[in-house]
Amino acid sequence: MSKTAQIKVDDKEYVLPVMVGTEGEKAIDTRTLRATSGYIAYDQGYGNTGSCESSITYLDGDNGILRHRGYPIDQLAQNSNFGETAYLIIYGELPNPTQRRTFGDLLRQHAAIDPQMQAILQGYPKSAPPMAMLSSLIAALAAYYPHLATNNFENDLKNFDLAAAIAISKIRTLGAMIYRYQNGLPYNPPKDVPFCDNFLHMMFSELYKDFVPSPEVSRALNTLLLLHADHEQNCSTSTVRMVGSSAANLFTSLSAGICALSGPLHGGANTAVVQMLQSIHDEHDDGTRFIAAAKSGSKSNRLMGFGHAVYKNFDPRAKIIAKACDDVLNKLGINDPLLAIAKNLEQAALKDDYFLSRKLYPNVDFYSGIIMRAIGIPENMFTVMFAIGRSPGWVANWREVAANPKGRIYRPRQIYAGPVKRDYVPMAQRG
Ligand code: ACO
Repeated sequence: MSKTAQIKVDDKEYVLPVMVGTEGEKAIDTRTLRATSGYIAYDQGYGNTGSCESSITYLDGDNGILRHRGYPIDQLAQNSNFGETAYLIIYGELPNPTQRRTFGDLLRQHAAIDPQMQAILQGYPKSAPPMAMLSSLIAALAAYYPHLATNNFENDLKNFDLAAAIAISKIRTLGAMIYRYQNGLPYNPPKDVPFCDNFLHMMFSELYKDFVPSPEVSRALNTLLLLHADHEQNCSTSTVRMVGSSAANLFTSLSAGICALSGPLHGGANTAVVQMLQSIHDEHDDGTRFIAAAKSGSKSNRLMGFGHAVYKNFDPRAKIIAKACDDVLNKLGINDPLLAIAKNLEQAALKDDYFLSRKLYPNVDFYSGIIMRAIGIPENMFTVMFAIGRSPGWVANWREVAANPKGRIYRPRQIYAGPVKRDYVPMAQRG
C-alpha cells in the first residue's frame, strides 16, 4: 500500500498522498487539502513547496550534489561543453554525433540578428542596463517569429527545436551586440565557429588574429556557461515556468526569466562579489574587516558569494569554478590580485565558527566574476553571461510545462491580511 500522511485539524483527520521522487525526495501532496478541509498550505517564498515534478536537474543541497538528467556536474564540466550540456538538459539524453551536429548547425544558422532588431537596440540609451535591453529584445523575438510563438502549446511544441535553437543562439548574440553598442562598437556578425568561440568573436574580434580566441579562454567560457546551465526551481526558472503555464510562448517566458534574474539577490551576486573583493583590495585590507562586519548579522554586510538558499554544504559548482579560475589565470599569465584575496577570504571563513555553524560555504558566484574578468567581460555584463548560461535550463523547463498534459496554470493562493469589509466613504467625509 502506498504511504500517506495525516493532517488533523478542527478535530478532523485528512489523509494526503505521499510522493517519492526517483532520488528518494519526499513530498506530501496537499492539492486536495483546501477542497476537503478549507485550509491551504502556507509557505511564504515557496521555500518548502514542490511546484512541479521535473526530470531535468537533481539538486541535494545538504550533500552538495548537482546532476543534470542524472549526470554529475563535475563529470559534465570535465568532459562536456556548453553546447552538448545544453542539448542534454533540453532533450534528456547526451546527443549522438548526428544529433550533436544537427543541434550545432541550428545554433549556427540562427545566430545572426535581423537588421530591424539591431535598429531596436539603437533606440535605447547607451547607458541602459544590459539586462533591461536583453529582456526586451528576447521578448521581441515573439514578434519576429510569430509562427514559432503562437501561444498555443501544441503548435509551439511542433516548432520547438527551431524556437529553442533561436532562443539559445540569439541570447548569446544579443548579449555581445549589447556590449558592443554600449562601447560604441558596430555589431559583429557571427562566424561559422563553435558556440563559445562565436560569442568571443562577436564581443572582441578586434582582439583576435583571424578571429580565433585562445583555447584557454574558450574552455573557461565553456565551463562558466555550463556551470550555470540549469539549477532546478530557482527564482528565474520558476518564473519561466509560471509565465509558460499560461500557454505563453517560449520567447515571452524566457524574457520573464531574464527579468527575474536581473535582481541582485539572484543573478547580480557575481557583480557584488567582485565589488567586494575590489574594495578589500583598495582598502589594503586582508579581508579581516569584511569578515568581522559579515558576522554582525546585518544583511548589507554579508560576505558576498557565501551561503546559498539550498546548498547547506559546498556548492559543487564553486569547487569546479575555483579550479577553472586558477587554470585560466595561470595559462594566460594573469596575476589578478582579487583571486588571492578571494582565496584568503575563503580560507579564513572556512575556519570561522560563524560560517561553519551556519553552513555558509562559497557559492558559484564567489569565483565566477574573476573568470569573467580574465576573459575580458566587464562587470555590467556579468548577469547577461549568467542569462546566456541559464538559457538551456529555462528552455527545458518551459518545454516540460508545455508538454505536460496534466499541467495547469500556476496560481498560488494567499492568506489575506488586509482590512476586513468596510463601506465606501465619500470624498467630502474624508478628513
Ligand atoms: N555572510 C554572512 N552571514 C550570512 C551570509 C553571508 N553571506 N549568508 C547568510 N548569513 C547568515 C544570516 O545572517 C543568518 O544568520 P542568523 O542565523 O544568525 O540570523 C544565517 O546565516 C542564515 O541566513 P539566511 O538568510 O536564512 O540564509 P538563506 O539560506 O535564506 O540565504 C543567501 C541564502 C540569500 C544566498 C545568503 O546566504 C546571502 O545573502 N549570501 C550572499 C549573497 C550571495 O552570494 N548570493 C548568491 C547566491 S547563489 C546564486 O544566486 C547563483
